Amino acid sequence: MPSGVSIYGTIASVTTPPLLQALAGTRPRTLPVWFMRQAGRSLPEYREVRRGVAMLDSCLRPELAAEITLQPVRRHNVDAAIFFSDIMVPLKLAGVGVDIAPGIGPVMDAPVRTASDVAALVTRELGDVSAITDAVRLVVAELSQTPSGDASWTPLIGFAGAPFTLAAYLVEGRPSRDHLAARAMMHADPASWNALLTWCARISGEFMAAQVAAGASAVQLFDSWCGSLSLADYAARVAPFSREALALVEGAPRLHFGTGTGHLLAEMAKGADAVGVDYRTPLDEAASLVPGKPLQGNIDPALLASGWDALEAATRDVVERGRRAPGHVVNLGHGVPPETDPDVLTRLVALIHSLPA
Ligand code: CP3
Repeated sequence: MPSGVSIYGTIASVTTPPLLQALAGTRPRTLPVWFMRQAGRSLPEYREVRRGVAMLDSCLRPELAAEITLQPVRRHNVDAAIFFSDIMVPLKLAGVGVDIAPGIGPVMDAPVRTASDVAALVTRELGDVSAITDAVRLVVAELSQTPSGDASWTPLIGFAGAPFTLAAYLVEGRPSRDHLAARAMMHADPASWNALLTWCARISGEFMAAQVAAGASAVQLFDSWCGSLSLADYAARVAPFSREALALVEGAPRLHFGTGTGHLLAEMAKGADAVGVDYRTPLDEAASLVPGKPLQGNIDPALLASGWDALEAATRDVVERGRRAPGHVVNLGHGVPPETDPDVLTRLVALIHSLPA
């Protein structure tokens, strides 16, 4: 049978997947759900295929990246795949010396600390993205045959790190708690800061746009560390660059997520189609801070290890509060912890799909 035609006519095959309905601000028949970090160490099949392959190398092997992206979709019946990559990949493609040290996180060969460090960095181009676009095409081919709700296919979400989070790693050189060196540069040398964030916005936006051009149906900009900023600094010195990155994406809804961002949500909503909320801000409160915007979130990841009864009660509460938003994509308030029992995630997806949308 040709695709797009079924014995029931064309209705089923032209139905928009629940994720994209929710991101468009409507209420699908079933609530869409996916999990940040759904691909990764919680899955034995991930640990198996990653054995002996360094993190960033695994992101640049298209067959492997595609397989890892698809593993949680096959196992959990989630309503979206999130592309398996890392926010550090565009830096690596641009020739920046970076590695992801197991148990630590991103580590730079040389931190970007001075005006001349910034001047040298910003001459770099994103470079060859064919390893990324090849992987996206492999994923989209399988997802086109994978139903989600009433739809015959499942969307892929592309992503990138937001300019501030990228800059925080570049300036600090490694993970840090409060990003003091990055925030010091922001205040001490605004010209270098602007040049650095302009460059980060461009490679971040180009990385997302490449994923959309290859078939991703939505994107998420991760600003994991922007919660460490005051509203005034975020609005004046960071948010304009996140909007520049988002503006490079055309033809796909744009999600904007950060942690510790209760005070920043209204600013983060500008230039984005939907806002991801961490577990600290209840969704009904978030809905009144960003009226008219679909929301994503925000089950506390700690509940995955708290027993089923507590997880079920908290999930029902999140879904109820999410009714205050025009559309709701259910997710965790941050990533899946590596020690999570994957069967709990599968059961959680089934619960969410059984609830009235
Ligand atoms: O399902 C998914 O979400 C998969 C894709 C994904 C990864 N990293 C894979 C990954 C995504 C969207 C990211 C984003 C990312 N990477 C962020 C933003 C989101 C967030 O969690 O706040 C950040 C800050 C990074 C940087 C990074 N990469 C860190 C801090 C770490 C953890 C280091 C460690 O070992 O604890 C990584 C490594 C990483 N990225 C892993 C995965 C699956 C673990 C690597 C492994 O298996 O050893």
